[in-house]
Amino acid sequence: MNVADDKTIVKEYFNSTGFDRWKRIYGNGEVNTVQLDIRKGHQKTVDTVLSWLKSDKNLAEISICDAGCGVGSLSIPLAQAGATVYASDISEKMVEEGAYRAKEILGNADNPIFAVQDLEALNGKYHTVVCLDVLIHYPQEKAAEMISHLCSRAESRIIVSFAPKTFLLTILKKIGSFFPGPSKTTRAYQHREADIIDFLQKNGFNIQRQAMTRTRFYFSTILEATGN
Ligand SMILES: C[S@@+](CC[C@H](N)C(=O)[O-])C[C@H]1O[C@@H](n2cnc3c(N)ncnc32)[C@H](O)[C@@H]1O
Repeated sequence: MNVADDKTIVKEYFNSTGFDRWKRIYGNGEVNTVQLDIRKGHQKTVDTVLSWLKSDKNLAEISICDAGCGVGSLSIPLAQAGATVYASDISEKMVEEGAYRAKEILGNADNPIFAVQDLEALNGKYHTVVCLDVLIHYPQEKAAEMISHLCSRAESRIIVSFAPKTFLLTILKKIGSFFPGPSKTTRAYQHREADIIDFLQKNGFNIQRQAMTRTRFYFSTILEATGN
């Protein structure tokens, strides 16, 4: 499978079965045990990023780009906390759901601004660029290109999360207990933390904070890096 295929497949997935699955996981309704575990893990990642962003006490003054925003799980609370948020995603369905949720929760339509966009086509500059749980859909070479583009859009800071490539996870994936069910997800790529740090550093960003969310079925390493 080549890289162009990965992007096309990911886009189609998040406009069809993936949309139904992730909309449920990233919601409040009833889900199965595995999905509930993933929901809780993902919420911890969102909460960690929110606490990092809030700790600088300057949210009202900064612009944040949430690249691959999904249904707005981070964008909506960020806008609620006063940041100016540009939320974009390659999937029309995810963006539509995000905009719907924002209107329901916030009652206004202009912050976050939602747009359908491939993160590699993002233009404009933002104080902070965030990209959560998107790199899992892409192989290493593509992840490097994506990080490079995201860094070029970030004035001060970039925050990314990814499924870490650890020995245990590789074994779990091999025996099929990670991302269970062949039809339930797209191909999942894990990344070495050292590689992601290296990509960030090559683009002039140095690591400030690191965290790891780990539940039974959800694993995500979060890195915050700031520019020189
Ligand atoms: C697992 S979800 C995470 C959503 C969101 N970041 C969150 O944490 O709630 C991955 C999202 O990345 C989006 N995505 C995948 N490839 C993308 C790309 N090249 N550009 C923009 N969004 C992309 C998918 O459509 C999907 O909404």
